[in-house]
Amino acid sequence: MAGSRKRIDQDAVGRTYGEWFSRGLRGIGMRYVFSRRGLWVINTPYRRILAAAGITAQDRVLDLGCGIGNILVALSEGIAFTHPAVGVDVSPSLIELGRREIQRAGLDGRIELRVGAATSLPFEDARFDVVVTSHVIKHLDDNALSRAFSEVARVLRPSGRFLLWEFKKSPLSAPLFISARATGLPPPFTLRTEDTLRSALLAAGFTGATRVATGAFVLPPVPRLALLAIR
Ligand SMILES: C[S@@+](CC[C@H](N)C(=O)[O-])C[C@H]1O[C@@H](n2cnc3c(N)ncnc32)[C@H](O)[C@@H]1O
Repeated sequence: MAGSRKRIDQDAVGRTYGEWFSRGLRGIGMRYVFSRRGLWVINTPYRRILAAAGITAQDRVLDLGCGIGNILVALSEGIAFTHPAVGVDVSPSLIELGRREIQRAGLDGRIELRVGAATSLPFEDARFDVVVTSHVIKHLDDNALSRAFSEVARVLRPSGRFLLWEFKKSPLSAPLFISARATGLPPPFTLRTEDTLRSALLAAGFTGATRVATGAFVLPPVPRLALLAIR
């Protein structure tokens, strides 16, 4: 389907993020860049992208690969959800850090974080109205991507929305490969085109996927791709 034979160990990716977020100056930098305060850096146009999903207070929202909860914190500051927003991430350390961030933001009880892998989401069928995922699916190999998209379709109610954004496969994405070789960040990843992602979404049972205009990101200066898929 997606055309890459690369194998990626999901738990190892989670461990690498855990280490990068935990230690020394690097940890401080990572915790800032991936926090609510750092959204302007790594997720500059997130408000514009999220607007495409038309999220309302009644929506039951899941953030897949939520990291330390940055997007859920920003969403919950602006929307008084009637159900707690939910985040899931494969890294137990990031979930732990995220719970502290949520407490600090005064959002205890309004956001719930769980440890879990994209390929086996710890939620019942049709539990959510909206799933968002930012900068996560590059860490899924082809097999895991199919399984993850099927899992997202399973946990969404019929007509539910799935909003994803990620680095795009493009010659302009070279800085990511240079950074990975020089520093180990990001951990193992594979980039895909819009067509590849759309085919994977349709194969997982989504009825359609439209492109969302992203606007510019500050860091890293690599083009992104955003899609809104309907279950
Ligand atoms: C680049 S960070 C993005 C964090 C956040 N979504 C954001 O945009 O700021 C990638 C996140 O995806 C998580 N992740 C990677 N592979 C995953 C998987 N297979 N299942 C769940 N989470 C995963 C990592 O642990 C990490 O928190």
